[in-house]
Amino acid sequence: MSKAKHILASSQFSKSDLLEIFKSASEMKAVIEGGACEVMKGKIMATLFFEPSTRTRFSFETAMLRLGGSVISNADMMTTSSTKKRETLFDTGKVVSKMADIIVMRHPEGGAVTKLAEGSEVPVINAGDGAFDHPTQGLLDMYTIWKEFGQIDNLCVCMVGDLKHSRVFHSQCEYLKHFPVKILLVSPEELRLPETIKMDLSHNGIDFTELTDLREVISEVDVLSTTRIQEERFESVGDAERFRNMYRVDSELLSLAKKEMIVLNPLPRVDELLPEVDGDRRAKYFEQVSNGVEVRMALIKQLIG
Ligand code: NCD
Repeated sequence: MSKAKHILASSQFSKSDLLEIFKSASEMKAVIEGGACEVMKGKIMATLFFEPSTRTRFSFETAMLRLGGSVISNADMMTTSSTKKRETLFDTGKVVSKMADIIVMRHPEGGAVTKLAEGSEVPVINAGDGAFDHPTQGLLDMYTIWKEFGQIDNLCVCMVGDLKHSRVFHSQCEYLKHFPVKILLVSPEELRLPETIKMDLSHNGIDFTELTDLREVISEVDVLSTTRIQEERFESVGDAERFRNMYRVDSELLSLAKKEMIVLNPLPRVDELLPEVDGDRRAKYFEQVSNGVEVRMALIKQLIG
């Protein structure tokens, strides 16, 4: 592994790291509003995306631009980069790091970002690798909870939907294990959270329960964490189709929930979260987008500031 400090996995952060990131992120709103920040002047970020993205790539790029840096980007690495000519990820990492000061990468395969980081001489950030991990999304989710409640301790967090394939849920579990929380894992039997993650939660003394009925528990939830069925990670679209509409967050469901509950979704949403909920005070998914920029600004500063 190269000597640069990377962000490759949610597991690399301790509880005190998380609190430090939240604090630093909360100072970024003022930086954005102040305009003309030059902290990253002369520094270049390369964003290498081998998988579709709207928010994550723009969020990293916005964060770098807000800090006064510059961006070079390829949103279509799989088809228009030298990967197509069979260049290894190690070599791509080596080459891009000769031009950029920091690299952000997304890839459909778990572990692919680590391979690129092995060749890179500059920090590499994992912007999602397959069903494995999405460290910065998890961080911005935790930051959103922390901002809303002033802490994470003693909350009841309910994750609902595709617990098997969602790297966002996997990352959230990795962070939540540092706090005394109760976790409710709501999914169909076939889409349960992977065993290794459950073992890790147990090992960290986290109280979690697996169930299939969301309505049964909705009244005790503080944070309702939702995401779409990750259809690209199923054997076939038809296979994913069976789970569509199994859970749906709508106004009627929210009428059964606490007034102070918050609803998270990393977006894009499909049919698991209805637009009729958007006007509800508890809907925080568009705020998550702004929070993501603040968190990523904090991370960039930490890595190359
Ligand atoms: C998520 C992802 O890519 O894992 N999106 C995001 O980063 N905001 C969630 C998803 O694709 O469903």
